[in-house]
Amino acid sequence: MSVHNAPKAVTIKTLAKLKSEGEKFSCMTAYDYCQAYAVSNNGVELILVGDSLGMVIHGHDSSLPVTVEDIAYHIRCVRRGNVGSLIMADMPFMSYYSEDVSLQNAATLMSEGAHMVKLEGGAWLTESTRLLSERGIPVCAHMGLTPQSVNHLGGYSVQGRDPDAAQTMIDEALMLQEAGASVLLLECIPEELGERITKALDIPIIGIGAGAKTDGQILVWHDMMGLWPGRPAKFVKNFLKETEGSIDDAIKLYVDQVKAGSFPGPEHSYE
Ligand code: KIV
Repeated sequence: MSVHNAPKAVTIKTLAKLKSEGEKFSCMTAYDYCQAYAVSNNGVELILVGDSLGMVIHGHDSSLPVTVEDIAYHIRCVRRGNVGSLIMADMPFMSYYSEDVSLQNAATLMSEGAHMVKLEGGAWLTESTRLLSERGIPVCAHMGLTPQSVNHLGGYSVQGRDPDAAQTMIDEALMLQEAGASVLLLECIPEELGERITKALDIPIIGIGAGAKTDGQILVWHDMMGLWPGRPAKFVKNFLKETEGSIDDAIKLYVDQVKAGSFPGPEHSYE
């Protein structure tokens, strides 16, 4: 069997090369076959099957009820629609509380079709990150606002504003990179901290509410398409509104604006 004529798929090496060449890349969530096709077919490098599905698909009031089987089900849907993007699976709440448990659950999601997994947290994930990456599972660390810890954080608020907290975030990001993380996602932090971390680390940095200076950007499908009935976060932009209802054009516009560095603008970023 030959795969030599297949379209070139995005891998973690592609993202690393884009960072080294100073080219921005775009990421979006998708949860089903048609979304995955639209996202990947319109030039988005990375699809996240995020645990945001607990809220935007299942209607829960947080991502905490999401299970490994929920993510596995949506990975199966997304892999059938994907045409060459890198598929990242979110590890849901309590699916990585120990090293052994994280390896077992990450292996399940990789067997279903994920190309990498994402775990929320800092230094405490060093050994799990090392274990997974040594066993051939690429890891994306998720720092800043980590929604699975909403009860511990006391709400969905901007993280890293205090200089000590900012320095801790930088130190812990470096620890996770050293342990083998291939990508880092930063959520809801001041733009200046997003820039410092992006410069301090060699691995590609994806931002959501982390300013314009990160290597890549990510948005949730339902936010981009104006489908979420609640109040949108500051970092959200409804791209569908700008393209007279064409989903393909909305995704292309997002990709173009991320590549050009015009999204996110100052109105979508935190100080
Ligand atoms: O679950 C998700 O969609 C996420 C994004 C907000 C980054 O983690």
